[in-house]
Parts: sequence; C-alpha cells; structure tokens
Amino acid sequence: MSKSQRPQVFIEKIMPVKQVYYEHGGNPFKGLHRWYSRKPLSFSRASVLASLLPADISMEEFEYLLGLHPEKDGILIKKKEPIKLYKTPPTSAVIEKLEEYCEKVWGKRKPVILDAFAGGGSIPFEATRYGLNVLASDLNPVAVVTMKAAMEYPLKFGADLQQDIDKWVKFVGDEAEKRLAEFSLHNQ
Ligand SMILES: C[S@@+](CC[C@H](N)C(=O)[O-])C[C@H]1O[C@@H](n2cnc3c(N)ncnc32)[C@H](O)[C@@H]1O
Repeated sequence: MSKSQRPQVFIEKIMPVKQVYYEHGGNPFKGLHRWYSRKPLSFSRASVLASLLPADISMEEFEYLLGLHPEKDGILIKKKEPIKLYKTPPTSAVIEKLEEYCEKVWGKRKPVILDAFAGGGSIPFEATRYGLNVLASDLNPVAVVTMKAAMEYPLKFGADLQQDIDKWVKFVGDEAEKRLAEFSLHNQ
C-alpha cells in the first residue's frame, strides 16, 4: 500500500519518545545476550503501534493502546509506581481495539510487521505480544540465534527449556574455568 493509499500514521505526526523511553522502559533480554543498541521494549512497542495506528487518534488513546491505562479495562494498578511496559503484556481488550484500527488503516486485522534489521529482537517481540504476524531477519547469525532463543524456543519447548539452559550454562562455565585455569592470577 503506497503512502497515498493509506491515512497518515501516528509516527508521522508525533512520538512521545521521552515519556515512553525513560518512565516505562527496560529490556529483560539484556541478560540473555548483549547486543548493539538494544532498545527498551517500551520504545519498540511504541514504534510498532505508532507505525500502525492512524495519526488522528488522541494521545490518550495511544497511551491506552500502549498499556498505560489498564484501569480502563478494570485492572487495578498501584498508582505510586509508573507502569513498566516491558513487564506488562497488553490486555485482550487492547489487542481487540488495535485490530479494529488495523482493519481500518491496513484492510486487515493482523498486518505483517517486517523488521529486516531486528538485532536483539525488541521490535519482533513487542509485535508478537500484540498477536501481530512478524517477519524478522538480521545479517548477523548471532542476532538471529538470540532472537530464536528469546521468542521461538520458549514457545516451542515450554518451561522445560529452563532446566536445559541451566545445565548447559553450567557446562560452558565449568569448561571455561578448567581451560582458562592456567591463565588465572591465583595460579601464578
Ligand atoms: C541497532 S541494531 C538493531 C537493534 C534492535 N532494534 C533491538 O532493539 O535489539 C541494528 C542491526 O542491523 C543489523 N544489520 C546491519 N546491516 C544489515 C543488513 N545489511 N542486513 C540485515 N541486517 C543488518 C546489525 O547486525 C544489527 O543487529
């Protein structure tokens, strides 16, 4: 769909970068593997939504679709702390509403999100949380493996995956310690 065939989208008008980035950010995948310029999940979520939603929705509606007003869906929140979006998947009501907008703007409820430079996978992860169809790729095979570990394997292997991860992390750690022992300062 060319630009002239679709309405202007939200990101072409405004993007609440500061608020989303500093107050609601974080990225739990940092612990999985270091990756260049890994974005906070809140920021990736905002980028995905702002690229799909029409420009004429209000900022309050955008914030609701981001998940910043769960009280509207009857979910109780502690007012003292700002909501951490990276810890908070969208409600089913929010997903339903996003699908309605997508149908209006893109002619389908679940458009395909393409991230050809996906790196650590923050954009594909957030798009998947909203039930969108995602295609992700990266030039670097390490990034691709990291994305698979974050997105595909937990769904494919379930909770048992944790035991295997613990086993192999210990194996690699023990092996590295053995092989590097002769270079340790304690042995010199
Ligand atoms: C800034 S990182 C993306 C970070 C990602 N948005 C995140 O939050 O984790 C940019 C990525 O683009 C990839 N890249 C660079 N040139 C590319 C190319 N020609 N084709 C595919 N990927 C490429 C790099 O390997 C790197 O992983």
